Amino acid sequence: MSTFSPASADPRWHWLKPDLQVVDFWLSRCNALWSTHEARARVVAVIPEADGVSTVVLKPNRHFKGFRPGQHVNVSVEIDGIRHTRSYSLSDAPRPDKLLRVTVKAVEGGKVSRYLQAVRRRAVVHLSQAFGDFELPMDNAPVVLMAAGSGITPMLSLLKAQAAMAFPRPVLLACWARNAREWVQAETLRDWMAKHANFKVHLIATREKPEGDAGLFGRISKAHIDTLFSGLPSPHVLVCGPSGFVGTARERVAAWAKSFQAESFTPPVQVVAPESEGTVQVTLQRSGRTLEVARGATLLEALEAQGVNPAFGCRMGICNTCACGKSAGVSRDVLNGELGTEPTHALRLCISTAQSDLSLEL
Ligand code: FES
Repeated sequence: MSTFSPASADPRWHWLKPDLQVVDFWLSRCNALWSTHEARARVVAVIPEADGVSTVVLKPNRHFKGFRPGQHVNVSVEIDGIRHTRSYSLSDAPRPDKLLRVTVKAVEGGKVSRYLQAVRRRAVVHLSQAFGDFELPMDNAPVVLMAAGSGITPMLSLLKAQAAMAFPRPVLLACWARNAREWVQAETLRDWMAKHANFKVHLIATREKPEGDAGLFGRISKAHIDTLFSGLPSPHVLVCGPSGFVGTARERVAAWAKSFQAESFTPPVQVVAPESEGTVQVTLQRSGRTLEVARGATLLEALEAQGVNPAFGCRMGICNTCACGKSAGVSRDVLNGELGTEPTHALRLCISTAQSDLSLEL
């Protein structure tokens, strides 16, 4: 069945076709959550969780299409008239009331994390759709979750989904933080352990051991791994934390785990190849500028250092926010080391370096 519209029938009627941005502008004057197409959410609560960590509870509008446990979402907020976007893992499983939770640690100099810590109730934020594939494999093999610092966030989402099903498979969580004040939702985790024989948790302090705590202590080590994994038949291992922590975990357990997935919330450590020394010219087609950038730096960092500020979210190659067209030149993907010699529409600036002169659609 075809739908008649004056604008599609006759180009003279095109002036009647609504500009969605304009419609959105006027809708948002009535209600900041209203939009013709954009996912937005209202802040319904901010819950303090641990030292410098709060959970922001969000009620999304009808354009948000839902998520799977372990996924991320980009949150955009306006600060002093400028829109800033950051990626956060969702820290809850999907719920019947459709509320979302992101658990945010205030980081030094972190504009968005500090804004969200203090955000007022009823404020409206912009959301992307959920993305990412950090999820439990579909069999019933045991699972080991290893988290450091804010890496606990996607684990909470995975665990809440398992708790809702009364832990049908063995799950072990090991969580490293500097001290007990930084453990997030420790009571909930201990409560689950008391109620479900299939769930075990190790909360590990790396700097200040709580008085009377007979558990593990210090940074991730061989002794920790031996204790955590003894008696477990080859588990699926999921790791989230700073890149150093992820690297150590990968080294110690990836070879004998049934499967290994990792996410790091700090930029990947770059191994600079010999051909990555020196500088190249990067031409920005839209602004007409040509910049000299170091071959070893990611394009996002190199551009920011010269006052160009492309949009970004995760800074680790997951969300695609920083993707831009490359019409000429050779780039290198720092995650897998592959060279990109063809023009592309989706060069992720945060995980790409320039290996020759480049032309970017910026
Ligand atoms: S900022 Fe997320 S992919 Fe680059």
